[in-house]
This record gives sequence, C-alpha cells and structure tokens, in this order.
Amino acid sequence: MPVAISNNRNRHIVLLTSTFHDSMEQDLERLRTEATSALEQVSDDTQLEDFRIKYLGRNGQLSALMKQLGSASKEDRPRLGKLANTTRGALEDLFKGKATVLAAHTESSDTPDLSLPGRRTPVGKLHPVTQIMEEICSIFASMGFSIAEGPDIELDHYNFEALNIPEHHPARDMHDTFYIGDSVLLRTHTSPMQARIMEKQQPPLRVIAPGKVYRCDSDITHTPMFQQVEGFLVDKNVSFSDLKGVLTVFLRKVFEKELDLRFRPSFFPFTEPSAEVDIACVICGGEGCRVCKKTGWIEILGSGMIDPEVFKMVGYDPEIYSGFAFGLGVERIAMLKYGIDDIRLFYENDLRFLSQF
Ligand code: DAH
Repeated sequence: MPVAISNNRNRHIVLLTSTFHDSMEQDLERLRTEATSALEQVSDDTQLEDFRIKYLGRNGQLSALMKQLGSASKEDRPRLGKLANTTRGALEDLFKGKATVLAAHTESSDTPDLSLPGRRTPVGKLHPVTQIMEEICSIFASMGFSIAEGPDIELDHYNFEALNIPEHHPARDMHDTFYIGDSVLLRTHTSPMQARIMEKQQPPLRVIAPGKVYRCDSDITHTPMFQQVEGFLVDKNVSFSDLKGVLTVFLRKVFEKELDLRFRPSFFPFTEPSAEVDIACVICGGEGCRVCKKTGWIEILGSGMIDPEVFKMVGYDPEIYSGFAFGLGVERIAMLKYGIDDIRLFYENDLRFLSQF
C-alpha cells in the first residue's frame, strides 16, 4: 500500500501506521481464508459450534482483530472498519449456509426408529349412496328383478316422447332439463330405460335400472346430479295389487321396519293410474315431526300402472299385457335411513362426513 510521506519528522509515524493497517488488512484476509477452509472441514453440529466460537464468537478471532481498530489512524479506520464488517458478513453467510446443509443432511440420513408404530394406510369405503344403491339392487334382485344400465346422455325421444311426454307437454317443465343439443340431453330420470328395454325385449319383464340423473336445481334437498332406481314389471294380468305388494316388501326391507305405506293418487304421463307412495315417518313413527312436516308421512317414490300409450309406442298390445313401474330417489332413502338433513353433504367429498358410513 503506497503511503504519502510528507516530511521526515512524520516518516516514522507514517511508516508505523502503514505497517499497522497493512498488517490488519492482511490479518483479515488471512482470517477469511483460514476460516473458509476450516468451515469446509466441518461435518457436524458440534464442529460447527466450535467454528462459530473460534472465529465469530464474542471472544473469537474476528472480534479480536476488530478490537485493534481503535488503534488505527483516523483516515484508515473507516476503510478498515468496513473491511472488517465485510469479512464478518461473508463468514456469517458461509456459516449459515453450512448450518442449512448440515440440517438437511441430518434429516435425510436419519436412521429409522424401528420402535415407532407403523403408519396405517386408511382403508377406503364405499360412498354411502353407493352402499344404499347396492342394498336397493340386492333387495330387488332377491325378488327376481334383473338390473339394466343406460346412458346418462339421452335422446329427447326416450327421456320424454316415448314416455308419453310430447313436445310442449306441461310435464316437461317439472324436469329442469340440461339440454346438450336440440334432441340430446342429460337424462332427467331413469324412466327412459322403460322404453329402451321394452322396445328390445318381449314380456315377461322384471327389471330395475339404477343410475345418475340430472336436473338444473340445487338447494338442501336437491343436487344437480342425483341417483334414481327405476323399476318395472310387465306380464299378463299384472295388477295394482302386485305393485303394492312389491313396493311394500321393498320399503320394509330397505328401512328394516314394518312400515305403514300410503298410496296417494297422483299423475305421471307414463302411468295410469299413478300413485305417489308415502311411508310412515321413519323419524317420529307417524307422530308428526319436523322431517315429516307434522303430517306423519314422508313421500318416498312415484309409481303407477304403465300407460297403454307407452306400450303402444314400443309395440306391446295393451289388451294382452299390463305392468307397473316405479321410480325412487336413492339419496332421499339414504337421508331418511341415516338421518341426514342436507343432500349436498353427499357430494362435497368431506371425509369426516363420508367415513361415518
Ligand atoms: N320418473 C319420475 C320422476 O323422476 C319418477 C317415476 C314416477 C317413475 C312414476 C316411474 C313412475 O316409473 O311410474 O319424477
């Protein structure tokens, strides 16, 4: 480092200063090099702490050098101070970097603790609606019904026309249909399976058709997608009492109770006569409560004798054959069976809810 020598008298002092600050600069440089290579040798937390004490600690080498700053000349002090701080900053950064590397290394190379209990893989379950659907299907299967599945994307023809619901029929309004094209839609019920099967097969028929259906509707008792089971039986001499018998057996089995049933006159374009079936409230047993709106009865499904017009459209002779049909909502049965008051819970995929079934 060149030093300005102004006169002879000052020469000695100037040289002394020169030696001092030159050597402090060199000391800082040496410390930095030494500490850097020492840090490279550090391989565990204890060594890292020793390093910190030796170089960066309050009584460490860097502090010792910094203490000498006080003896530096006024002109050199700021520069040397700055250099010392840069050195400290650099060493601290290196130290932190090493600490991070060691921590990561410790985590990944941890030997397993064989005494820890194993982690159990949670066991999956069938969705509650699927469980009820399977139960419904097996009850009907035990009564000799076969199971058929049809398309969710359906033609207007099967969803409406073939079920005696022509264009502009007011019954279409009840369905809140999702249309995909002029004559293609998401089926609003499983009833189209009646027409699809009857047009291909001859009686006697005893069929249920479970599946998803879609309506543009959403609140605590409606979801845009829900599931239905359609059922129908066609043969010679089928009467309304057959319908009553089959539905009574089914509802008592599915609710595991000797329930009372009520057949209430209703209207569906594809059945004549039609009836809605109520069951004695499963919550209060008929006394009257919030769920049954104090009536003691709960509507559970739609049904009726298949309309002769429907038979004619599939080419069956209504003079020879008769039959009944019914359609029920699967979520509704699940809600009543399990005491659930909001249908949307089924489709929010909250495991805390789903795992209870
Ligand atoms: N398809 C009707 C609906 O979704 C339910 C229904 C009523 C089906 C009467 C039937 C029936 O087979 O006979 O509202």
